[in-house]
Amino acid sequence: MEEFAEVKISGKSYELPVITGTEDEKGIDITKLRALSGAITLDSGFKNTGATKSAVTYLDGENGILRYRGYSIEELAEKASFMEVSYLLINGELPTTAQLSEFEGEITNHTLIHEDMKRFFEAYPSKAHPMGIVASLLCSLSTFYPDSQNPNRTEEEIELTIFRLLAKLPTIAAWAYKNFVGHPVVYPKNELNYGDNFLNMMFSLPSEDYKIDPVVSDALNKLLILHADHEQNCSASTVRIVGSSHANLYSSISAGVIALWGPLHGGANQAVIEMLESIHADGSPLEDWINKAKDKNDPFRLMGFGHRVYKNFDPRAKIIKKAADDVLSKLGINDPLIDIAKQLEEVALNDEYFKARNLYPNVDFYSGIIYKALGIPTEMFTVMFALGRLPGWIAQWKEMIENKEPIGRPRQIYTGENERSFVTAEKR
Ligand code: ACO
Repeated sequence: MEEFAEVKISGKSYELPVITGTEDEKGIDITKLRALSGAITLDSGFKNTGATKSAVTYLDGENGILRYRGYSIEELAEKASFMEVSYLLINGELPTTAQLSEFEGEITNHTLIHEDMKRFFEAYPSKAHPMGIVASLLCSLSTFYPDSQNPNRTEEEIELTIFRLLAKLPTIAAWAYKNFVGHPVVYPKNELNYGDNFLNMMFSLPSEDYKIDPVVSDALNKLLILHADHEQNCSASTVRIVGSSHANLYSSISAGVIALWGPLHGGANQAVIEMLESIHADGSPLEDWINKAKDKNDPFRLMGFGHRVYKNFDPRAKIIKKAADDVLSKLGINDPLIDIAKQLEEVALNDEYFKARNLYPNVDFYSGIIYKALGIPTEMFTVMFALGRLPGWIAQWKEMIENKEPIGRPRQIYTGENERSFVTAEKR
């Protein structure tokens, strides 16, 4: 039975269709509202606006549910490999053994980056933030593969770009890190799996091969899976909107990396560790920091707390918290920051301000602690997030292109001056 919503504007009523999703979520289709009534809707920050219909990820923030293509995040984090999850997100179904091995084979084939690209690294200042390098180099890939710039690409060409992106991002990311620490780059080792190859490029030295600890390898696999997609968040929406102009896929993903960099989005994982370090160094009671976070005249916020859509708990944070405990105990690491994080969580969760606003730890609250335990420096945290999020961005972009979605172009309510005449400078 078709459902309608009634909107009354200046005494006149309009009927708008109600769309129902597969999980029974409702949305009012306002596509014709302006044509019918002359009015638009206004929703700053898109807090209540569906930008698209999507079959990639289901998220129920009230009940802490997250599923990729119908599979729960808990089950995927426990049982799947990051490559299986990447295939699932991009192609819609889990791969068979043969499909997985072909997918991994294609990715392994493209892990090298053009030697000319190595010169870019020389031009960056040492200590250049790896996110800046990663975003620029992903965009630069489009100049090495000019065919990718054609908006009327064939399916095979698109697939090749997807393989190249998945294959080359770990190399670019690890080399950005090597630039940061001033070490020579390490080339990909194709006999290793996706995560282990990345760890090897990060931590191998000419004098010493890096021995991959299975605890580290497992934790990285889990972290990449937990970050792989999160429906229409700031960076995925950026990828979709940039891609909707038919800008090439490399550039659309590069735009997503930039959106992710902000401390209100993926950059929060770096900000969390910096905050915990400041709390540790400062030594003031935790209540002082909580009060600072509550003070509207103080710009300080409790990083890693709060989420636009999770208003109960972030299911990823639950899994990561347990994984952080496992990693620290298996690696025998005693990190005072984890104690501070746990105490902070407890104080905040029992505080009226945080309770009233449904502010809970998000995925970034504990991910930084694991990254730190794995030996990954703070400046690389958001890059790690990008590495995990890449298949999600690709899946979101692919869906947008396959659905032939129109160019993203929001409207506005103009609040500036009415028309006025130009006055020459001497008369102003
Ligand atoms: N510390 C203190 N107060 C907070 C926090 C926080 N971390 N987060 C939200 N609030 C307060 C706001 O001041 C506001 O209070 P008010 O109603 O009295 O004005 C209320 O809670 C609602 O917050 P909004 O900013 O309106 O919520 P929004 O959905 O726009 O923002 C966001 C969500 C950006 C995640 C926010 O909670 C935040 O800044 N958190 C810290 C940064 C962070 O951890 N980001 C990572 C998000 S996860 C991710 O992107 C992977």
